[in-house]
Amino acid sequence: MAFPPSFRDSRNDSKSGARSGSGSLRPKSPDMKSGGARASGIETMKTVVANSSAVSVQGREFEFTNADFERVRNLLYKNAGIVLSSSKHDMVYSRLARRLRSCGDQTFAQYLRRLEQDHGEWETFINSLTTNLTSFFREAHHFEILAEQFKQVKDKRPIRIWCCASSTGEEPYSLAITACDAFSSLTPPVEIVASDIDTSVLAQAEKGVYRRDRLDRIQPTHLSRYFVPASGNDGSHTVRTELRRLINFRRINLLSPAWPVQGPFDAIFCRNVMIYFDRPTQYGILKRFVPLLRPEGRVYAGHSESFMHAADLLRSIGRTVYVRLDSPLR
Ligand SMILES: C[S@@+](CC[C@H](N)C(=O)[O-])C[C@H]1O[C@@H](n2cnc3c(N)ncnc32)[C@H](O)[C@@H]1O
Repeated sequence: MAFPPSFRDSRNDSKSGARSGSGSLRPKSPDMKSGGARASGIETMKTVVANSSAVSVQGREFEFTNADFERVRNLLYKNAGIVLSSSKHDMVYSRLARRLRSCGDQTFAQYLRRLEQDHGEWETFINSLTTNLTSFFREAHHFEILAEQFKQVKDKRPIRIWCCASSTGEEPYSLAITACDAFSSLTPPVEIVASDIDTSVLAQAEKGVYRRDRLDRIQPTHLSRYFVPASGNDGSHTVRTELRRLINFRRINLLSPAWPVQGPFDAIFCRNVMIYFDRPTQYGILKRFVPLLRPEGRVYAGHSESFMHAADLLRSIGRTVYVRLDSPLR
């Protein structure tokens, strides 16, 4: 399979954990910038040598050749649409090394052979390689625009939102808080579908428990209204059950030919995920968004994402918000 052209990749590595001998795949906090190229104790003696098939790094616990890296890149692209730039070699090593350790594999080649035969391993493979950086009220202007959008809906019907790369839940809970504020109710007429390809972040999102440092962007009034202190006295808080009831979490791979969601949606939050895809993949996804949107529905994109290349599908209304071409909105 031809590999897509590399693209500028501004991701932070959040899942490296090569030092631990544990096979646990418990993901790190999404804002932990451990750095893909960070050397672990095992990796400090790097010496690049040529071998018959590719270049490998000696002194590492596991052999990981450039050919192995290319296989990982191709598999991730084919199965999740994610494009890894060539600079992510070390990041891939550190994220998958812990998996090799826990599976008892001696080389990446061995692990990759097993991956091809064992369908159960796919989920863990993908979970290990996604980047889940997120925060509450990230790119806060979108929540102000959404609150305005809520006011404009006059008919009595549920307002439906799809948050299609919801990571550890901060984004869909920020949507739920915005809805509760807008309707001055803990049971606003809002339904949120929150999905992600990564099952480990979805599990965290469903729990709705956040450490104190993850709650920095939550106003004190919101904290007391929408969260309850978690047991343990470490400052962690749990999202109130009423908020969780507004959200339906499910695994959806944006690359899958069938999405288990039904439109129409008033809003699709598709933020900071398209940056991992190449343009043909982005275009294909946007094309499938259009029939899921209400005429006045909006697609919210991340601040560094532009859908101008899909001008035959969506029109920008400013501030990284897009509408259908036939939308009455200006
Ligand atoms: C950087 S996070 C963005 C989270 C959130 N939308 C935000 O803006 O804060 C990107 C998320 O996209 C998810 N993702 C990556 N590829 C995906 C795919 N093919 N389908 C669905 N989600 C995907 C990752 O698992 C990750 O949780």
